[in-house]
Parts: sequence; C-alpha cells; structure tokens
Amino acid sequence: MQNIPDYIAQHKQRFLNELIALLKIPSISADPAFSKDVLNTAKAVKTALETAGCDLVEIHETAGYPIVYGEKIINTKLPTVLVYGHYDVQPPDPLDLWNSPPFEPVIQKTELHPEGAIFARGACDDKGQMYMHVKAMELMVNTHQLPCNVKFMVEGEEEVGSNNLAIYVAENKEKLANDIILISDTGMIANDVPSITTGLRGLSYVEVEVTGPNRDLHSGLYGGAVANPINILTKMIASLHDEDNHITVPGFYDKVEELSTEERAEMAKAPFSLAAYQKALDIEAVYGEKGYSTNERNSIRPTLDVNGIWGGYTGEGAKTVIASKAYAKISMRLVPNQDWEEITELFKTHFESIAPKGVTVRVTPHHGGQGYVTPIDTIGYKAASKAFETTFGKKPIPQRSGGSIPIVSLFEQELGSKTILMGFGLDSDAIHSPNEHFGVWNYLKGIETIPYFYQYFTEMNKG
Ligand code: BES
Ligand code: MN
Ligand code: MN
Repeated sequence: MQNIPDYIAQHKQRFLNELIALLKIPSISADPAFSKDVLNTAKAVKTALETAGCDLVEIHETAGYPIVYGEKIINTKLPTVLVYGHYDVQPPDPLDLWNSPPFEPVIQKTELHPEGAIFARGACDDKGQMYMHVKAMELMVNTHQLPCNVKFMVEGEEEVGSNNLAIYVAENKEKLANDIILISDTGMIANDVPSITTGLRGLSYVEVEVTGPNRDLHSGLYGGAVANPINILTKMIASLHDEDNHITVPGFYDKVEELSTEERAEMAKAPFSLAAYQKALDIEAVYGEKGYSTNERNSIRPTLDVNGIWGGYTGEGAKTVIASKAYAKISMRLVPNQDWEEITELFKTHFESIAPKGVTVRVTPHHGGQGYVTPIDTIGYKAASKAFETTFGKKPIPQRSGGSIPIVSLFEQELGSKTILMGFGLDSDAIHSPNEHFGVWNYLKGIETIPYFYQYFTEMNKG
C-alpha cells in the first residue's frame, strides 16, 4: 500500500478543512435547544459517506436522533468491517474556561502536539476519530485498494446513552452482519507509545433525592431540630467509601473479576510516570482504593463517584435556610462480570436502607451498560496490532481503559462480533472538558493506519 502517505500528504489540507466544517456544527445531543444542529450533522455525515464512496447511504430515523448507515459491498465472499462512531458531542460548558469558542475550531501547537492540534468540542470525541474512518475509506476507494466490504453506523446519541441504537441493532441484525467491528472512540498511551484498548468499564448512572421537611425552613427557627437533607445526603455519600476507599455497598464486589498476579505484572509494564501524571493535573498526590496502582484504579477496578450535587441556596451572599430537598448524580464504573442492572439494584437497596428517620430517599436509575474485554489472540487484534506496527514502527501495547462505550458489549451480544478499539486520542486531549483537542498528527496517523487494518484483516482471514 505504497501510495497511502502520498495520498495523505496531497489531501491533508482538505482532510483538515472537512473536519473543521463538521466541528462547526454544535451537535449537542443532551440539549434539546440544539436539535436542528444535531440533525444537520447527521445530514453532513451522510453526504461525507457518499462522497467517500459508499454505494448506499441512508438516514435511519429513530425516536431520538437518526443513525447514519452506509455501505460498500464489493464481494459478499470477502470479510466485512463494520465501523461505528458517534456524531453527537458533550455540552461545552463551562464556556468561560475555553481559550477559543468550542464550535469555532482553531489549530494551535501544544507541548504534546508540536505539529498542532484542532481545538473544538468533538475534535477527539468523536467527530475527529470517526471522520478518520471516512477519509480512510475515501483513500482506499480512490487508490483502488479497498480489500473487503465496509459498513458504517454513525449514531447521534452516544453521549446520552445510545438507547435508540440498541433498538436499531436488535432490529437490523442481518443488515449489520459483519466479521469485525472497528471503533475509534478511545485513546492511546502516547504518540510514541501506541496502544490498543482491550477493555472498557461498564456504567451505572443514578440520581438520588433526599427529602426532609415539606418546605424550606428558617435555619435558625428550625435548625438543630429537624433533619437537614443536605447534611444527611453528604453523610450518606461519605459512608459509601471506607477508610481504604473500598465501596461499602453490600455485594458490590461479589462478581468483580480479580486479575492474576501475572496479569497485574504485565499491566505494570506499560510506561507510566506518576510524577508526570500528578504534574499534569496539579495534584500533590493520587488518591484511591488501597492495594492498587493508579493504572489499576482507573481500569480494572470499579468506582463510585458523585458527578454533581445540589440543593439549598447557592446564589449571591447568604440566605439562612434549611432546604427541603438535596440531590446528587452518582456514577459507578464497573468491570467485567459486574452486571449494571444488578449493581443499580444493590445501590438502590443500600442507599435507601442507610437513610435515617426524618428523611425519605429516592433513587432514580438513568442509564448504564456492561463492561467489555476483548482477547488479544484473535485475527482482529492481530491485524490491528500489525497495522499499528506498520505505521508507528512499534508494536502497540494492549491496555484496558477506564471509560465506557456501553453499546460495545451489546454489539457482541446481538451481532456476535468482537470489537477492535483503535483509538488515536490522548488522555490529555481533554474530552468532555473545556479546550478539547485532537492532534493533527494523530488525525492523519489514524487515516494512515486504518487502511492497513483492512488489508491485514482481509489477508489473515484468507489464510
Ligand atoms: N468516547 C467516550 C468513551 C471513552 C473515552 C472510552 C476514552 C475510553 C477512552 C464516550 O463518548 C463516552 O464519553 N462515554 C461515556 C458513557 C456514555 C454512556 C455517556 C463515559 O465514559 O462517560
Ligand atoms: Mn465517544
Ligand atoms: Mn464522550
């Protein structure tokens, strides 16, 4: 595949311009005020797939945002790669922490991206990474080296739980039939330390509400004599971890898969600098479950975190009040074998049971999904590993990630196929944060690496 670097060099500016145009549309799936923009992004993805050489592209309407499906079937006897990605993005707030507006992409150099990075919401998660696949497809078609069949499925509700995609997948098993699913929606260790993600954590996301008195009260007249829902909520939350930072919900760890000493030793070989990690976050020390390293804590161990907490008076100045209600949003990141619905139930039962008399507690599940681990002795992994080795000049390290893409385990369940998580972002690219960015080098490296995956996967399937 000699002409890949040439083709990329020749079309580099256009590849960047097209991505920048896509990043200008604020496709925020969580906020109904942007629904027109989300729909327009779906249309833009459809056009992009047609231009890249898909023979059939359709927009599938759902109860939420549409799914864009595209395909190019060259020979039904050849393998089929199904590419998944998402065109929706996270809300950009807090806006004042952005150095440039989130939907006006700019290219700026950074320490880790000396060749420049595109700053915009969705640059890395996931428009930039999804678009690498569209451009890789264009490259393979235009240079007459597409070796197998391709299907694309790009959704607009990943950041809000993929509920409608789950229905679409269950109803379209035949249409989506494939030999391997390929996703770029994760990261790698560093630009000179390529890695392939072999695991994702599951997720259970809940909201809790603590209600005390039937109305807000004067904190002098009533203070000390009735339960204050905010005091109670914070106490209940604090009790969810013990002094070793183990989670106290009974049964929470029952199904957690413990890694062997050998597996943990293998994991510990991945390059990692604690000093650099702390410096990047401006923290003096890391914090977490006793007995586990930082890399273990954020990948092979489950967690429980408050994502938001509110109630009472938070405006200017002081108001003396005992609020009637207090709220929190809590996420639990899960590891393989933990079932998210079971964990949600365990949490609910426990949280309700620790509420003192004088308050009532309501736990409302939001969404969730199972974790995922993929073996490395498959053709899919081997092809991906060889593709990285070809373009990075180094064998990639298998690595389990702490993030979640709940739909991946569902793909395996419904379609019976494994997923290869070929991510080109860096943890420091600030996804979901202000100043999200994606390295220009990473974007082009992705476009370069993907065609080799197709080639090796097709070859390995033959022989
Ligand atoms: N692409 C991310 C997940 C991710 C990022 C996995 C980096 C591994 C490395 C995805 O868009 C995401 O944000 N997922 C959510 C869950 C979803 C149900 C909202 C997450 O992990 O919080
Ligand atoms: Mn994503
Ligand atoms: Mn995301």
